[in-house]
Order: sequence, then C-alpha cells, then structure tokens
Amino acid sequence: MTCIIMKQEPNYNNLISLYGSDILDSKGMEAAKDFIQHGDTSVYEHCLAVTIMSIKLACALRMAIDMNTLIRGCLLHDYFLYDWHDGVKWHRLHGFRHPKFALRNARRDFDLNEVEEDMIRSHMFPMTISKVPHHKESVILCIADKIVSTREVFVRKTQNAS
Ligand SMILES: [Fe+2]
Ligand SMILES: [Fe+2]
Repeated sequence: MTCIIMKQEPNYNNLISLYGSDILDSKGMEAAKDFIQHGDTSVYEHCLAVTIMSIKLACALRMAIDMNTLIRGCLLHDYFLYDWHDGVKWHRLHGFRHPKFALRNARRDFDLNEVEEDMIRSHMFPMTISKVPHHKESVILCIADKIVSTREVFVRKTQNAS
C-alpha cells in the first residue's frame, strides 16, 4: 500500500499514468469516450476530472491516502459502459443502479482491492443511502464526484444561457 501525504501539487497526468495506465488503455475506457456523462462531457473525461479533483482534495486536506487505490477507484467509479441518455427503460434508475453495474464490469476487467470496490459501490452516497463509504478514499471520491458533476451540469447550462 502506498499511503502518502502530498506536500506539494503533483503532476496529475504523470501520477494517473503511473497508477492507472492499464485502465486508461482498456477497451472499456475507450468505449467510455463515446458515452456522454453530463452535457458534452464524456464518461471518460468525467472520470479523469473526478480523479484529478480527488487528488487535489487529498492534497488540500493533507490526508494520508493510498494514491494507487485512490486513482484506480476514481478512474473506474463510472465504469458502467452504456449511454444512460438513450431512453432505454432500464436506464431510468441509472442514478441508483449504475454503481452496481460499474462494480460488476470493473471486477470483470481488473483486479480490485477492497477499498476500490467500496469506492465504486458507495460513490453515489447519500443517494444510495444504504451504500455508505467505509474508507477515506471513498469519501474523497464521493465529494469530488459531486463537485465535478455539478460543474459539468452547471457550466453547460450557464454557457447555453449566455
Ligand atoms: Fe456515478
Ligand atoms: Fe461520476
């Protein structure tokens, strides 16, 4: 386990490549480039932005975190691998159900540790009220995902209005 406290701002791309290059190069993440998350942001772009935000939060809070796990869990948190805007009936409860699909796909394609599994499972908390984050990496992801998602939705609406 690589538990570290980041004392200065890291090079995000280098850090993400170091720990997550196999994920970024996977067929699943390639497919995620074509799935829209919010506005005109793809799921791939969203996952990268959430990963960077999570690293920033961990740095700002001077938290001792497992950087490898934080990055891998963040990259895979929305690994559900479908377009949830396509109007298919079973996508209606996407907000509640997609962590389960993401975890199933991620388990299939990668070796996950317990914390990474918890991160993916609980990232929609408190919407998924029974899936409480059990690790600090999960809490960081949960907060970062909401910040980035709000930005993606709100910035698009602001831009459209202007
Ligand atoms: Fe999600
Ligand atoms: Fe997300």
